[in-house]
Amino acid sequence: MLKGKTIVLGVTGGIAAFKAAALCSKLKQAGASVHVIMTEGATKFVTPLTFQSLSRSLVFTDTFDEQDPSQISHIDLADRADLFIVAPATANIIAKMAHGLADDMLSTTLLATMAPVMVAPAMNVHMYDHPATRANMQTLRERGIRFVEPGVGQLACGYVGKGRLAEPEEIMIGIHSFFHEKQLLKGKKVLVTAGGTIERIDPVRYISNDSSGKMGYAIAGEAYRAGAEVTLVSAQTNLPVPDGVKFVKVNSAQDMMDAVLARFDTLDVVFKSAAVSDYRPVEQLDHKMKKKEDEWVIRLVKTPDILQTLGERKTTQFVVGFAAETNNLDAYAQDKLKRKNCDLLVANDVSQEGAGFGVDTNIAKVFDANGVVEELPLQSKQDMARRLLQIVALRLESKPSSEEN
Ligand code: PMT
Repeated sequence: MLKGKTIVLGVTGGIAAFKAAALCSKLKQAGASVHVIMTEGATKFVTPLTFQSLSRSLVFTDTFDEQDPSQISHIDLADRADLFIVAPATANIIAKMAHGLADDMLSTTLLATMAPVMVAPAMNVHMYDHPATRANMQTLRERGIRFVEPGVGQLACGYVGKGRLAEPEEIMIGIHSFFHEKQLLKGKKVLVTAGGTIERIDPVRYISNDSSGKMGYAIAGEAYRAGAEVTLVSAQTNLPVPDGVKFVKVNSAQDMMDAVLARFDTLDVVFKSAAVSDYRPVEQLDHKMKKKEDEWVIRLVKTPDILQTLGERKTTQFVVGFAAETNNLDAYAQDKLKRKNCDLLVANDVSQEGAGFGVDTNIAKVFDANGVVEELPLQSKQDMARRLLQIVALRLESKPSSEEN
């Protein structure tokens, strides 16, 4: 399965380092060429000789211990990797990666690599939940680094909770799906809408909503990594534009509608994850409204329904709608799916903790015309994005591409 692939395995100092030996063995058995870099801490748990025997390659522990004068090891490894995996990843290496530190062989090679990076954390539950670790992991996710989530259970430190290194078999599934996913949307044109549109009242005031854009940006970044040509039509957010994605900034629902319709005919897939304002002020003042009366009545009028328009106009395009609900999730979601003629509808109950607006995670149910396709439990928006893209890719296999229209 991994024949011809070069994998650099970074092992850091935690008790779970022994599981990395099993992972190294599985990678080798799958046909990969494996090169191991250990931190000093990792060598306290498992010897380099273990990894050397399993990988049949020299193990690197020291940036300055150059084994071959014709090469600079950390650059050579960084360049050769098809995938760089850090397992187990301590809170320390995650922090170094987030902040760009390069003070040993592993962190230096990670900073030098252009290869995709996968991180399998393992640490004490409180370290995992610490705001600093969470912020560091979020920074890495936004840079496109993939995580293999740790398991919940008895930890070596005595605590019970989240922090156990994922089993080598689970990490292998993540690795296999990474190499497979790369091709999933190759040649497909995908457009993603994200963020909350803003509807001007006057030059300094507007109506909007709490959408941060995180869900849509995750889909756009992951779609690009899955080989698609991606356009992100985004209303206001504070997020960096994902690498490789064409970016179109819009403000109002009407702007978003214009930007999407201008591209719609050439698209294969549209994700309507933006939270579009349903109403806009009838009047938009060209000067700041002065405070005068006790009451100020603003008349609102409906904005165009972009998703419904796409549903009416679509030919071969695969349209994925979203629904943000606080009650009657299934009934409202299925009604929206039918009314707006979507191929799939992703419904999130935004009243649940960890779901919907602003947070880094989401919980959703995916529907098609026949009912529930899949329930997606609490997970990072990045992981949800990847799963949604897998579901879409499977369904696209039976549809002609835009070039055949
Ligand atoms: O951005 P985050 O902070 O990460 O939060 C993610 C999210 C909660 C915004 C996202 O997961 C989500 O649910 N997006 C859709 C929110 C929404 O507007 O839901 P709705 O039920 O009001 O609309 C249903 C669908 O119609 C949506 O696909 C929406 O984009 C679309 N719509 C709505 C109104 C309108 N005028 N035009 C539209 O296209």
